[in-house]
Amino acid sequence: MARTALVTGGSRGIGAAISKALKAEGCNVAATFAGNEEAAAAFTAETGIATYKWNVADYDESKAGIKKVEADLGPIDIVVANAGITKDAPFHKMTPEQWHQVIDTNLTGVFNTVHPVWPGMRERKFGRVIVISSINGQKGQFAQANYAATKAGDLGIVKSLAQEGARAGITANAVCPGYIATEMVMAVPEKVRESIISQIPAGRLGEPEEIARCVAFLASDDSGFVNGSTISANGAQFFV
Ligand code: CAA
Repeated sequence: MARTALVTGGSRGIGAAISKALKAEGCNVAATFAGNEEAAAAFTAETGIATYKWNVADYDESKAGIKKVEADLGPIDIVVANAGITKDAPFHKMTPEQWHQVIDTNLTGVFNTVHPVWPGMRERKFGRVIVISSINGQKGQFAQANYAATKAGDLGIVKSLAQEGARAGITANAVCPGYIATEMVMAVPEKVRESIISQIPAGRLGEPEEIARCVAFLASDDSGFVNGSTISANGAQFFV
């Protein structure tokens, strides 16, 4: 039976690789995007994966968007909360706006994405919740008090949902990517990026597909006893 999967931020970067990997596993996939219509249209043309526009920071928009996805593709069995942004600044320069934008998108966005699909998963006695956290939620990062707080929060969310969902056949797990070759990491000043790469024992950035393969495992029917876990994929940069 084909599963239906929702991937937020699923048309670019790590999310695009996840959407493609889940499609390759036989899932019906819906990918959301926040604003870049051109990239989303190109992604749909390339992959055949349906894209939907909504702001994950908005509960009502998320709920309405999810309703539309379910009307088009069927009940959502797998939800990948991947959408995220950075607004990096040293703490003494960080504005309340930078704090709230990142919290609203990266942390409240997880609530807004998972909460509307949770009752259906409980009723159908199956669900896979996968949250894309970050190495920087595990270790903290200079200039990322906002981002690191959200990514550490993700780990608390999945450990709680794992306990709540276990008897209903729902698992909730996190993936903590290290530094991956995406636009987000390429936006870091080149000198800083070079210094980061020098701290990765693998000697390179990760590839989005290397994260997508972790997600495909956690999304599979076979992973049912893996619940409340975190998969770190960071080239040996940090151990929990
Ligand atoms: N550790 C210690 N000190 C650091 C530092 C670090 N990692 N990075 C910068 N500094 C220091 C600098 O040496 C400099 O010190 P001096 O003033 O003594 O010269 C100071 O901090 C820089 O201060 P500025 O006021 O110039 O900083 P800024 O306001 O221009 O901000 C920055 C610059 C935003 C911090 C920029 O350096 C930056 O973007 N850094 C990268 C942050 C980062 O790693 N983000 C991760 C993005 S990728 C991602 O988030 C994906 C994921 O999940 C892994």
